[in-house]
Amino acid sequence: MKTMKITELIKTRRNVKQFKVDPIHEDTLNSWLEAASYAPNHRMNEPWKIIFVGKETRAKLNHKTNFGNAPIVIAVLSEGSVTALQRDENVMATACFVQNFLLAAHEEGVGTYWSSMGAQPQNREILNVPENDDVIGVFGIGYPVEVPNAKPRTPITSKITYLS
Ligand SMILES: Cc1cc2nc3c(=O)[nH]c(=O)nc-3n(C[C@H](O)[C@H](O)[C@H](O)COP(=O)(O)O)c2cc1C
Repeated sequence: MKTMKITELIKTRRNVKQFKVDPIHEDTLNSWLEAASYAPNHRMNEPWKIIFVGKETRAKLNHKTNFGNAPIVIAVLSEGSVTALQRDENVMATACFVQNFLLAAHEEGVGTYWSSMGAQPQNREILNVPENDDVIGVFGIGYPVEVPNAKPRTPITSKITYLS
């Protein structure tokens, strides 16, 4: 795949629904996670945690499409905190971490599927999530069977306000 500019990478990443069985090497995956950890984060607290979801746990989660049969499933957590502001900031930083990861995978032609099912109480339990942590998402990762078309976005000018 030819190298894409970051803006092109951002615009061409899609939420992939169906994956090929082709494996992804652990080292490669870890290199994307490591790159993702350069995300902005307040006071360098690096609030993200990654859980590799194995076969048995995955079966217990009983996802409607089995994460599109992705060869890899991970959950990304954001560490809880004593204050609401700090917790929000942790979620913000972890969302930045996730986007970095999604783009690093996409750059190598690997697709990702974001499921919010991990936030449900029964799934938190299955994933053994510490009480105060937030589940940002459970992600299927693999080579896409097909890449959906981009859903059109609202013109950004309609989202901008200028203050004097
Ligand atoms: C916080 C969050 C939760 C999401 N949860 C789900 C989900 O449970 N199931 C799903 O199919 N997509 C989920 N998505 C993916 C969105 O549906 C997807 O990003 C959106 O439709 C835009 O498509 P695109 O990512 O291909 O541009 C989630 C995305 C975010 C940011």
